[in-house]
Amino acid sequence: MPRHAYVNGRYLPHGQAAVHIEDRGYQFADGVYEVVPVYKGILVDEGPHLDRLERSLGELRIPMPMSRAALKLVSHELMRRNDLSHGFLYMQVTRGVAPRDHKFPERAQPALVMTTRQTKPHSEKMLSEGLKVITVADIRWQRCDIKSTSLLPNVLAKQQAAEAGAYEAWQVDAEGRITEGSSTNAWIVTAEGKVVTRDASHAILNGITRLALIELIRKAGYGFEERAFTIDEAKAAREAFLTSSTSFALPVTRIDDTPVGNGHPGILFAKLRAHYMDYMAGLEETT
Ligand code: PDD
Repeated sequence: MPRHAYVNGRYLPHGQAAVHIEDRGYQFADGVYEVVPVYKGILVDEGPHLDRLERSLGELRIPMPMSRAALKLVSHELMRRNDLSHGFLYMQVTRGVAPRDHKFPERAQPALVMTTRQTKPHSEKMLSEGLKVITVADIRWQRCDIKSTSLLPNVLAKQQAAEAGAYEAWQVDAEGRITEGSSTNAWIVTAEGKVVTRDASHAILNGITRLALIELIRKAGYGFEERAFTIDEAKAAREAFLTSSTSFALPVTRIDDTPVGNGHPGILFAKLRAHYMDYMAGLEETT
């Protein structure tokens, strides 16, 4: 069965799906996106992902390309056509097609593209050994809360990580505090056993996985703090991990060349990941 993509009103074979060369997403990265995980055929936290999409669009004054109900219909139809069970749905909305000019065009229609990708579960090795992250300067703009397709600093950071044999790059602000990874949120567990992640502000993307995990942490009654932490605190932490729609929760066992804790994935991490996997397994179709 050929894989399909949705492009501005049409379902097309993935290889033939294309947008106009004057799409403002292509020329200015004038657009936003969402990556929604698909677990056992169900879109995980579809509502919160759509809320964030709407918020990102609102911040950039791009209209919604269609109603939320219509967006849900298209996503579900694309998943059905692609027989997607595990992986993710990618949605991108740009300000549309217009002759190149920085200011907003008067008459552009927002452009909507959706694709899906089937993925394999994370390897046992990743979970049993944990991952390495490197630290890099956070050179992004001051509105990282908007899920913009303008991702050059993130691309450069992830490439630097890959070249250093690391899974992710944790970005560090001017005060030496970690903001987040290039495509993931950053977490530590302190010596006292408190789970810490940076507070949501313009400095980070407020991850949907992050929000779901915070809820689970609160329900389970673990100690938790939402605040910034420095590279030094992270390196001295008992445990570290990262979250995102494609990583769920993965253990971090090395930051630059420093092993985290005893160098093995932490006990609290394993509990939190189990909570999150149970949470996903318990989700039911909402539409
Ligand atoms: N990235 N921080 C950044 C900078 C991100 O790009 C992402 C997601 C996250 C985690 O957010 P969430 O839990 O909602 O996925 C944090 C997606 C997966 C990506 O760009 O592919």
